[in-house]
Amino acid sequence: MFFELTQSTKTSVKAFRCSFLDFIEDPFYVSTAESVRYIADGMLVIEKGKVKELGTYENLKNKYSKIPVTFYPDMTIVPGFIDTHIHFPQMEIIASYGEQLLEWLNKYTFPTEGKFKDKAYAQKVAAVFLDELLRNGTTTTLVFAAVYPESVEAFFEEASRRNLRAIAGKVMMDRHAPDFLRDTAQTSYLQSKQLIQKWHKKGRLLYAVTPRFAITSTDEQLRLAGKLLQEFPDVYLHTHLSENVDEVAWVRELFPDCESYLNVYDRAGLVGEKSVFAHGVHLSDEEFRRLSAAKSAIAFCPTSNLFLGSGLFKLEQAKSKEYPVKVGLGTDIGGGTSFSLLQTASEAYKVAQLQRQKLSPFQALFLATLGGARALSLEDKIGNFDAGKEADFIVVNMRSTPLMAFRNREATPTSLEELVDRVFSLVMLGDDRAISATYIMGELAYEVKR
Ligand code: GUN
Ligand code: ZN
Repeated sequence: MFFELTQSTKTSVKAFRCSFLDFIEDPFYVSTAESVRYIADGMLVIEKGKVKELGTYENLKNKYSKIPVTFYPDMTIVPGFIDTHIHFPQMEIIASYGEQLLEWLNKYTFPTEGKFKDKAYAQKVAAVFLDELLRNGTTTTLVFAAVYPESVEAFFEEASRRNLRAIAGKVMMDRHAPDFLRDTAQTSYLQSKQLIQKWHKKGRLLYAVTPRFAITSTDEQLRLAGKLLQEFPDVYLHTHLSENVDEVAWVRELFPDCESYLNVYDRAGLVGEKSVFAHGVHLSDEEFRRLSAAKSAIAFCPTSNLFLGSGLFKLEQAKSKEYPVKVGLGTDIGGGTSFSLLQTASEAYKVAQLQRQKLSPFQALFLATLGGARALSLEDKIGNFDAGKEADFIVVNMRSTPLMAFRNREATPTSLEELVDRVFSLVMLGDDRAISATYIMGELAYEVKR
């Protein structure tokens, strides 16, 4: 279900009454009191799809006594979730049995992506894909399309119809892939350029130059990807990095004169502030330092890393104080196993546990919201309820299953201590059922059926 914006809804002022939870700073680096904003009985005022004001209901109710107020008792409104790495053509191969990365690509991924040359097919899948994201409370995504420009067109058209903020790109891949999926360095450059000119900054849409990974691109293709970034300095770079040990070994063979996997991208000018690297499971200390210096981001994809047997991401090292790297969460559908960023955060907690590290409930929720926005350099537009931000938010039911209702018998936490336990249970037990409604720019885009 989706709604197109009309002129009247764009200009109206309206409000929501609920409890509100968001982040104003990074809880990996500062205390809960300095990072978490929780208003047990709050009011969010929205004008033209953007946040006008957030405060307590008591303080704001008289100031806005004339505007319509939607009340969600016993719910919590949080910013829409941000998925920093996902493949839309892989939706239909989610849960494909038995392989690790390189075999999984050959056996499942490549044959499926071949279907996305057909624009009508791509359009159908894009529609189902975006509806599934909204059902799961995900309002912004960084997306791999397929190698065909038609697949990008289809995705952007559907995202635009739903008024979503989304970043996507055509896969660049000129070797080590089946014929039907290969472009050339030159065609990938020209097609990407055309797509940038057509779609980058069109409404809420943005473009990412998207070489699949070092194995499937020649030096020449990577160099031309770097040329695109120079010609269009505010587009993104989105690729995979150091996910699987066999992959890392092959990259070393293919690029014997590079010091590291990251260095392959660095040489081509692909490591910068708007670069997002998926996985980074097997990075060296030196590579972490370089990512930190370049202000690049990592998309941590725990369900994928576990499902494909890739390894345990060193979150604590990425979030170190000395060499901090921006981190967001990625579902990595179809290597990942859930569209839900709650489930993804739950697996992130377990990945930390296996390394004797702790991921606090607030840190987990931060990664899914403001952390993701920072990873995508979109923190001036989305990620929390600061005035002026785009009003993408979700209505969360922390008692959405019989088990959660039993565990969380009182409806609304009144203190931060109660809240932290409640948020932990949400992260561990919650999924799409916890998302009661999803709003895009202040407009209802999905509501659970009762
Ligand atoms: N590395 C290169 N391509 C892919 C992909 O499609 N999925 C994952 N998880 N890793 C990749
Ligand atoms: Zn991926």
